[in-house]
Amino acid sequence: MFTRHVNVTNNNSGYDVKVGRGLFENIGVEISNLNFKSHVLTPDGLKFAVITDSNVGELYLETCIKSLREYGDAAAVIFNAGEASKNINTFGQILEGLAANKLTRGDLIIALGGGVVGDMAGFAAGCYMRGIKFIQVPTSLLAAVDSSVGGKTAIDLTAGKNLAGLFYQPELVLCDIDLLKSLPEIEMQCGMAEALKTGILRGDDLFKFFENGNARENLDEVIALCVDYKAGVVERDEREQGERKLLNLGHTIGHAIELCSNYEIKHGLAIAQGMKIINKIAFRLGLSSQETFNRIDKALNNFNFDFNLNFKAEELFNAILADKKRKGDVITLVLPVEIGACELKDVNINALPALLELGLMREE
Ligand code: GLY
Repeated sequence: MFTRHVNVTNNNSGYDVKVGRGLFENIGVEISNLNFKSHVLTPDGLKFAVITDSNVGELYLETCIKSLREYGDAAAVIFNAGEASKNINTFGQILEGLAANKLTRGDLIIALGGGVVGDMAGFAAGCYMRGIKFIQVPTSLLAAVDSSVGGKTAIDLTAGKNLAGLFYQPELVLCDIDLLKSLPEIEMQCGMAEALKTGILRGDDLFKFFENGNARENLDEVIALCVDYKAGVVERDEREQGERKLLNLGHTIGHAIELCSNYEIKHGLAIAQGMKIINKIAFRLGLSSQETFNRIDKALNNFNFDFNLNFKAEELFNAILADKKRKGDVITLVLPVEIGACELKDVNINALPALLELGLMREE
């Protein structure tokens, strides 16, 4: 098992991310090893609420509840699977579900699922009674390599993705790689896109798996390297004032693609598209070498994604205007200038349409 402790201020002593196999069926034991001071304050012992979606619930809820019940009462709050659920209505239903199950401040939420579950359960944990403890149990590759670590929680608003949320750190991330076996192919691809993003940021020790097309055969190591990289970034810049913005590589354009497609294009695939476009922009601006451009482009092509986009620069630009990362007239782009050395560049939004045209322009 690989364990990475994440030192953050938003959680007294930080927390462990545990990556391994066979961890999930003993989730109760893992939780009982955590030191909850507030636990003793609750009159009738620790209570758990497992927040999950309809797909994951069907596969894993029973095992989870069974293991938890050895340590306390366990209830479930389930919502319909999919990004379309990541909204204020479902969020309200989750909070009502926690209250209906009489969860108190000394109790614990378990976010059992992929990125959508993690984001919404984490946000609910941060808001319910002004904050109760929660743990992340990622069941998608995307959540395992990225979203379960670092305490970003959010829901989407009509105007755009993740527009309401909190930085709220978990008490533990329990990543059981065996749970990823049940993932549909498209979800595997989405997670791989996010892992490739980390490879471009981290450097050759991770990027090589994507370049050589053998990331899946080395899944345990890929996940551990992604978690380790992300944990380091989060420790240095928990609230995304600087370095953490690097993790948005491919995301500004990717989020715009998601919004333009009405979320029919999944997050991982959209950020793969975003990386393809930003790689071209960096190269065509003369900021990266032909070799770097080719290596990233080849690694993206190894996935067999469909990179034919039907959106025009103007549509993407309008969607980017709703991006929460925009500060007034300025948006920070992440430019892949070298493998292992991406750079942040503040760009006036007036310059964006031309940059997008550059990124969408086909080779002659
Ligand atoms: N998913 C990017 C971050 O957590 O900062």
